[in-house]
Amino acid sequence: MPGDSRELKIRGWVKTKRDMKKTVFVDLNDGSCLRSIQCTFDQSLTPDAAAILSPLGTGASVEITGRLVPSPAPGQEVEIAASSIRLVGDAPGEEKNGIPPYPLQKKRHSLEFLREIPQLRGRTNTLGAVMRVRSALAFAVHRFFHDRGYQYLHTPVITGHDAEGAGAMFRVTTLDMTATKGAAAYAGDFFGGESFLTVSGQLEAETYATALSRVYTFGPAFRAENSSTPRHLAEFWMIEPETAFFDLTGNMDLAEDFLHWCLGTILDECGEDLEFFNDRIEPGLIGTLRSVQASPFARISYTDAMAELEKAWTRHGSFEFKPRWGCDLQSEHEKFLTEEVIRGPVIVTGYPKEIKAFYMKLNEDGKTVRAMDVLVPRLGEIIGGSEREENLEVLMRRMEELGIKEDRYNWYLDLRRYGTVPHSGFGLGFERLVQYITGMANIRDVIPYPRAAGQLY
Ligand code: 4AD
Ligand code: MG
Repeated sequence: MPGDSRELKIRGWVKTKRDMKKTVFVDLNDGSCLRSIQCTFDQSLTPDAAAILSPLGTGASVEITGRLVPSPAPGQEVEIAASSIRLVGDAPGEEKNGIPPYPLQKKRHSLEFLREIPQLRGRTNTLGAVMRVRSALAFAVHRFFHDRGYQYLHTPVITGHDAEGAGAMFRVTTLDMTATKGAAAYAGDFFGGESFLTVSGQLEAETYATALSRVYTFGPAFRAENSSTPRHLAEFWMIEPETAFFDLTGNMDLAEDFLHWCLGTILDECGEDLEFFNDRIEPGLIGTLRSVQASPFARISYTDAMAELEKAWTRHGSFEFKPRWGCDLQSEHEKFLTEEVIRGPVIVTGYPKEIKAFYMKLNEDGKTVRAMDVLVPRLGEIIGGSEREENLEVLMRRMEELGIKEDRYNWYLDLRRYGTVPHSGFGLGFERLVQYITGMANIRDVIPYPRAAGQLY
């Protein structure tokens, strides 16, 4: 309480220091929230502190003892009337003993520059705010599913199958690659066959959804996609709920409720950080999140979406890729649909089977599958999901058409052999959701250590 005469100790990193004749002001931040607390040192009362303070710069870690008092300064209710300071770790502003100066001096740094120092960028306002929102969001995800009776399932990171059939997998091996030739060599590998990092925990989640009814995963996924876009990472986190006895409509409703919940929770819990993003990163962000959180998502079939795109193409021909039924939506198409046609999030359903994964349930038309992608303005696809093919013959036929070897997926086919049920699920890219909520333009700035093609650090 301000005015309390007891002394308290606070610890953190110096954000700024201002040396006025009589008083030294230190803004201290420990990363627990955006705002720093001002600590004032009356030079006449704390002469010892002056010696410690005079060489101190941004980034130094200190322990400050003082009393919490009402602050006369505008914009802050309280401050610390400091009585002493202890230097914990220096961060010299100039080269010292061969150590280069602390790179985060008090000025605005570009996000590109900060990407070069992931080990330090968490101390900036922007990355600090992103990581707090990310953490709050992770808890919100668990609360959402826990409250709805979903069991949290840990699916393997190392796997032998390509769940998405997209072929962008990282190989895992203990073999000496300089001596390894051909696929046959993998028989001698650690697992007795080829193994990879998982692209999705979905197939394993399906097996447990047909045991526990409702499960979700929240773990890392790996894709060796060579696309260096602001929306792709080689290592990202995915949330994949899977629900038994659930059709595509139930799945869409769940996805919509889930996104509404995430937005509502962050609006409630991370107000200060969101205001920062609203002011500095994406003007209008909070208003948009509020209105999205309060409205149902539009739903449109792929065929109708394509018709809109084709109309736009005929009118102004303004896309790089000509929209055509049967082709996947390019990000420019997703942008146009969400920003120009719908002006908000939209769930697109019923994609042609050729552009979707083998496990999706075939519609009666024999051409489209019960897929659902949730697209949002600025980012495009944020969720991809579907009702799964629960009919053994239909699934096996589809696998054969695609040249997927049955022996690799025998375990998965067992779900359709024994007690098969309609079931559905989706995958949400966690970083894309963090991007959507914070307004951050580049996915590399919403994960502590981004991994992307050509960039490990
Ligand atoms: O649409 P995707 O590929 O779907 C699946 O993996 C399904 N197994 C999900 C399921 O039905 N259980 O990926 C799901 C989401 C995408 O919508 C996107 O948000 C995100 O994962 N995603 C990526 N995020 C970052 N970097 C990448 N390279 C991503 N690839 C997909
Ligand atoms: Mg997808």
